[in-house]
Amino acid sequence: MALDKIEIGTARRFKGEFTPPADKSISHRAVILSSLAKGKGIVRNFLRAKDTESTMNAFRALGIEITDEGSTLTIYGKGLYGLSEPSGVIDCGNSGTTIRLVSGVLSGNPFFSVLTGDNSLRNRPMARVISPLSQMGAQIMARYGNKYPPVAIKGAQLRPLRYSMPVASAQVKSSLLLAGLYCMESSEITEPSRSRDHTERMLPAYGADLKVEGLKVTIKGGRELSPMEIEVPGDFSSAAFFIVAALLVPGSDVICRNVGINPTRTGLLDALRMMGAKIEMINTRTISGEPVADIHCSGKAPLKAVQLSEEMIPSLIDEFPVLCVAAAAAEGFTTIRGAAELRVKESDRIRTMASELGKMGVKIEEYNDGIGINGTADMKGAEVESHGDHRIAMAMAVAALAAEGPTTIYGSSAVDISFPTFFDALRGLSS
Ligand code: S3P
Repeated sequence: MALDKIEIGTARRFKGEFTPPADKSISHRAVILSSLAKGKGIVRNFLRAKDTESTMNAFRALGIEITDEGSTLTIYGKGLYGLSEPSGVIDCGNSGTTIRLVSGVLSGNPFFSVLTGDNSLRNRPMARVISPLSQMGAQIMARYGNKYPPVAIKGAQLRPLRYSMPVASAQVKSSLLLAGLYCMESSEITEPSRSRDHTERMLPAYGADLKVEGLKVTIKGGRELSPMEIEVPGDFSSAAFFIVAALLVPGSDVICRNVGINPTRTGLLDALRMMGAKIEMINTRTISGEPVADIHCSGKAPLKAVQLSEEMIPSLIDEFPVLCVAAAAAEGFTTIRGAAELRVKESDRIRTMASELGKMGVKIEEYNDGIGINGTADMKGAEVESHGDHRIAMAMAVAALAAEGPTTIYGSSAVDISFPTFFDALRGLSS
């Protein structure tokens, strides 16, 4: 078996056009809502990657027929109460979105099910959904005092919930909104600050009774969803690696096509602009209720350090690793604080970025809730690790392009979670 590693050298140029794979968050939600709707739904430009396959497999295990022709799925939804008790344990793989959102759905279904996942997922916090879903009346048990997967759920007729979430999390919010579909009265979910809002945009399009007022979302259940034909825009979080690479390689010029630019997702652009980057949006349009654009960036201005605080974190939550790489190559000392959530992602991303960038000669300070990065003009190629985390593998590949000398990334196949063709796409633009 080939070793799971890849070598990446310094990029002398980074030029051309690139279209990112489909949005992961929207792809998960399209499978879930189509499965719960009554009738035949179509999902075009669905993300074919390990995480979204986990959601497809979960709904197949719950009795939903899904046919796939490349990136087009046809889903034969059976209505809110059409799912059937799975005969085995549902494996959510590495996907936090799958396990948390599906837990919300299963809480309203009157059968028994067990959800588990890989080693990383079995160590990710579940109390954040178990506690409010239990308040709604579901019976849920999990490992280690109801904290970690496997999670066993016996659904029930749910009671309405009035809940102020302690952390901004789209997975928690979406899990509770999906449970809210099974509750005849109105539930109210309030976030401390706005996390990605794809669920709130999609649910009404499928016919749900949902209202957003500031940070409060109200949902009234008991109404069947109608199937739709939906097209998934490109994933900003995948484009992010190419945007930062374009800013770090001198003389680069890149256009990322068909990228979702929902403002709850594009905090990285704000941060990079604060660092002096010039990034241009062209051909802005709307696809399936989501804003989309082509993004043009070039490596003209050298980046400067920036100080980022808590309120910016939710809109750049998945871009923390690649933002650390931008900071590592910027002039001055960058701090990112109020980011403790990064410790409970696919890896502890504060620790993993500190250790891997450290190997390339970057001086780092690690804080409980963030990181301090002393930018340098001479990052050195090194042997680094993905820690089984797709976004760490991709961020370190971007660092490798800007470093002097070759870098070997071990555990590079982690990219299959969200962007299986990542290294080919990167190679296509760099030389
Ligand atoms: C996601 C929400 C975010 C994000 C994850 C995808 C989603 O997680 O990090 O990659 O699709 O809802 P949290 O809700 O835990 O912040």
